[in-house]
Amino acid sequence: MIVTTSALYRVAYGRFAIGAYNINNLEQALGLFRGHVQAKAPFIIQLSKGARKYAGVRMLEAIIRACDEEFPEAIYAVHLDHGDEKTCYDCIDSGFYSSVMIDASHEVFEENIAITRRVVERAHAANVSVEAELGMLGGVEEDISVDEKHAMLTDPDEAKRFVELSGCDSLAVAIGTSHGAYKFSGKQSLHFDRIAEIQKRLPGFPLVMHGSSSVPQEEVARINAAGGKLDPSARGVDADEFARAIPLGVTKVNIDTDGRLVWTRVHREHLRDDPKNFDFRKPGEIFVREYAEFVRAKSEKLLSANTLESVQASLLAEV
Ligand code: 13P
Repeated sequence: MIVTTSALYRVAYGRFAIGAYNINNLEQALGLFRGHVQAKAPFIIQLSKGARKYAGVRMLEAIIRACDEEFPEAIYAVHLDHGDEKTCYDCIDSGFYSSVMIDASHEVFEENIAITRRVVERAHAANVSVEAELGMLGGVEEDISVDEKHAMLTDPDEAKRFVELSGCDSLAVAIGTSHGAYKFSGKQSLHFDRIAEIQKRLPGFPLVMHGSSSVPQEEVARINAAGGKLDPSARGVDADEFARAIPLGVTKVNIDTDGRLVWTRVHREHLRDDPKNFDFRKPGEIFVREYAEFVRAKSEKLLSANTLESVQASLLAEV
């Protein structure tokens, strides 16, 4: 069942975080639904501009609707990831999305507010909620690339002003993470002091953590052992840190790269170990199984496993 992102935030805030995963195809969608139904966890499906272009808008919607029928127990929201103003309006007008992200974080502060404000007005009239971004994450996200020296943590006072003036419903904050597989060299930790300062100024307001893949070293090693050439020093976020960030208001956690690593490892190992195979369904089945297990395990770290009953109860109480 598709629900509003705001309804998920209300039940999750301070207790658990909702995993937000990007999908581009049938296999990712199947793994996502299967894993979360097993985990009894709510989730957010994210569609990026790139995914909408790759698979086609109607195709992605059809895949999600079909999964909805196959997995009637699933409770989730559908979200546009890193939208520009035009794509936000397309999604709002389609009536299919629970929420959109307007990413104007590369604009100067006042312009970011003005653009976000316009999207908020149109979105709220259609009962769609809006995620905005303030601060600058490093790394590569589709066509946006920010080098580390230009990355900038979110300023807590600015965050408060931004939320008040823009009217957004959640805020993606830069708190030490970055997009993509090449996040950090050496041990990296979230900036908990910064998150706490933001929460102090915005109590009860949902914060979103982008760039939250863990880039597991064993995954990178297996990919490289099967012919890949990924940087073995790549590091991501320690998933055990989610539990510390959740009481500080982190309510949505975006994970994309780790799923791509599962895909790469499964396919590289399969083609290496079964060189005679040319049936794409064989690695496809393995991927769906492994991806389902991956998101199930993540939901434990996000403390969202086994929360579906309380989510249902809270949704019913709101009706
Ligand atoms: P990762 O690259 O860490 O998976 O982050 C994805 C993301 O933030 C999508 O918006």
